[in-house]
Amino acid sequence: MKVRKAIIPAAGLGTRVLPASKSVPKEMLNIVDKPAIQYIVEEAVAAGIEDILIVTNRGKGAIEDHFDHSFELETQLKGNPSKEKLYEDIKACANLANICFVRQKETKGLAHAILCGKSFVGDEPFVVLYGDDVIISEDPVTAQLCRCYEKYGKGVVGVKEVPEELIRLYCTLGVSPIEGEERAMNCSKIIEKPTPEEILSLYAILGRVVMPPEVFGMIEKGLAATPEGKEFYFTDVMSELGAQDRLIAYDFDGKRYDMGNKLGIMKANCEVALDHPEIGEDFKTYLKELVKTF
Ligand code: UTP
Repeated sequence: MKVRKAIIPAAGLGTRVLPASKSVPKEMLNIVDKPAIQYIVEEAVAAGIEDILIVTNRGKGAIEDHFDHSFELETQLKGNPSKEKLYEDIKACANLANICFVRQKETKGLAHAILCGKSFVGDEPFVVLYGDDVIISEDPVTAQLCRCYEKYGKGVVGVKEVPEELIRLYCTLGVSPIEGEERAMNCSKIIEKPTPEEILSLYAILGRVVMPPEVFGMIEKGLAATPEGKEFYFTDVMSELGAQDRLIAYDFDGKRYDMGNKLGIMKANCEVALDHPEIGEDFKTYLKELVKTF
C-alpha cells in the first residue's frame, strides 16, 4: 500500500537547547535561512507525501504561522523585482502540502505524541519524521523508507551506525542481513538507551520510521500499562513488531543533523552554509581564515 500520510511530532520541551527554545519552538530554530521543520516538511513532500500532521503544544503557534500565508509580508514583497524569489518562496511555504495540526496536551513522550495522530492516519501506513532531525540527501530518506515499506509490507525504521561511546544515548537494534539487499536488514529487537552489556549492534534509529496503522493499538495498550510518571517508549512498540518478524531496519543514505542539541545545530548551520548559493563562497573564505587562528 502506498504511504501518503506523515506525522511530525514537534511537541517536546527541547530542554537540551534552552534558553533558545524557551519561547521559540526548537523545531523553528534555523539552519542558515530556513527553520528545521521546513526542511523536514520539504523532505516529506519530495517523497510524495500528501497529508502531514504536525503535533504541537502550548507555545508552538509559530510553527502554524510559518506554514500559513502572511498577507502583509506577501503584499510588501510582491512586485518588488529584487525580492521576486523571496516572494515566491514565502508564498510557496503556505502551499507545500495539506498540513494539519493537533495539540499534545501533556508532554508524555514520543509514543504518546504519535498516538495524537490516530484519527488523522486512520487505516493506512504512515511515516513519522521526528521534528528535530533534519536529514539532507539527494533521494529523500522518507522516499527510501517508503519504497522499502511498499516492497516488504513491514514496518521500516531508518538507521545508521553510531559511535560505540554514544549508543547509550540512542537505542540498539538486533539485525540480520536479507539476501540480495545492501541496505535493508531484518530487525528482531530494539533496546532503548542500552547499557554496555545490552548492545546488540551499533545501529540506532535516527529520525524516520514508516509504521503500519496497527501500532496505534499497541501504543494504547503500552500507555495503559505504564505507571503514572513513567514514559512508555515508542521503541518498545517497534521492538514488538520486530519480535513478530514485521520490522525492517534500513541503513539510509543521507546526512542527519540533530537539531535537538547545541552541537548538532552548529554542525547543520556550518555544513549547509558552505553549500548555500548566496553565502557559501564567502562563508568558506571566512572559515579558512578562522581556522588559521586555532
Ligand atoms: P526528544 O527526545 O528530543 O525530546 O523528542 P524533547 O523533549 O523535544 O527534547 P529534550 O530532551 O527535552 O531536549 C524527539 C521528538 O519528539 C517530539 C519532539 O518535539 C522531537 O521532535 N516529542 C517529544 C513530542 O512531540 N512529544 C513529547 O512528549 C516528546
